[in-house]
Amino acid sequence: MEQTKKTIFSAVQPSGDITLGNYLGAIKNWVNLQDEYNCIYSIVDMHAITVRQTPAELRKRSLELLMQYIACGIDPEKAILFIQSHVPAHAQLSWVLSCNTQMGELSRMTQFKDKSKKHADDINAGLFTYPVLMAADILLYKADLVPVGNDQLQHLELARDIANRFNFHYGDVLTVPEAYIPKAGARIMSLQSPESKMSKSDPNPNGFIKLLETKDDTIRKFKRAVTDSDNEIRKSPDKPGISNLLDIYCAVTGKTTEEAEAEFAGKGYGDFKLAVGETVADSLEPIRAKFDQLSKDKAYVEEIYKNGAQQANYIAQRVLGKVYKKVGFIV
Ligand code: TYM
Repeated sequence: MEQTKKTIFSAVQPSGDITLGNYLGAIKNWVNLQDEYNCIYSIVDMHAITVRQTPAELRKRSLELLMQYIACGIDPEKAILFIQSHVPAHAQLSWVLSCNTQMGELSRMTQFKDKSKKHADDINAGLFTYPVLMAADILLYKADLVPVGNDQLQHLELARDIANRFNFHYGDVLTVPEAYIPKAGARIMSLQSPESKMSKSDPNPNGFIKLLETKDDTIRKFKRAVTDSDNEIRKSPDKPGISNLLDIYCAVTGKTTEEAEAEFAGKGYGDFKLAVGETVADSLEPIRAKFDQLSKDKAYVEEIYKNGAQQANYIAQRVLGKVYKKVGFIV
């Protein structure tokens, strides 16, 4: 890693097929940042098991997620790509940090509250301490910047609090990270219920766009997107469906809201939804093609995650060693 460059860490859970929300809120920005920063991107399988998973599917999805990172444009020559469970320091640092995190802090996490409602039959301790593991992910690599969607801001704020507290008690060891939230695409909403976030675990498949689904499916879902009854294409809090489509269009094309509104002024909702659907489908086409190509080259994919684990382990061990020393473990 180049010493002069700042470091970025981010991750996605392999808990379902990734969506347009994951892409526009996170991965697309990772691609843009990889020349300017030392980048480390993980597939966080240890986070995924906070919700019950089918083991064979988890294995398959972890590899597919790695292939999707690369298909989206992340260059394994520039960024370190690794699978979280291949680096034991994540669990080890997580333990130390959990002894520096308050129950009250974790109880306030909105994602914990939401997920406890959704999985009322399995409110396990991992679900509760998950933000501590996320803090360990980030702090192990001395990340300066963490590019995430809006929904991860609260977890990132907690990671900062934990780092500051640790540094206060033990001396300056941990780098306090900053969030990097994209201007457009930080919160992509469901196409069917635009007041809730687009999510890979949504039971209604028409609500989300999978990165790897067919062009026809993508366009069909956009054509069916829920809008409103006033037929005006403008961004407004009382028009969540249209606002979401405009956000998606802007995040994909790089246009501003004003430019997009001007482009579609006077057009009907049908034409607008079709145009957004086609734009999204066209932008995802090369990702699908690259993914298909990668899925034929298992050896290459294996080489990447093995190499990534080696590099990640090296960096993580050094930070963990410092932390262990500070807290009084014999190292
Ligand atoms: P996860 O797997 O739920 O989502 C991965 C990334 O996608 C973003 N995202 C969205 N952005 C915009 N609109 C949406 N509808 C949308 N849905 C998801 C998320 O904000 C995230 O950036 N806890 C994390 C994974 C994680 C992590 C980390 C992230 C574990 N350790 C360390 C950063 C740093 C999570 O569950 O993301």
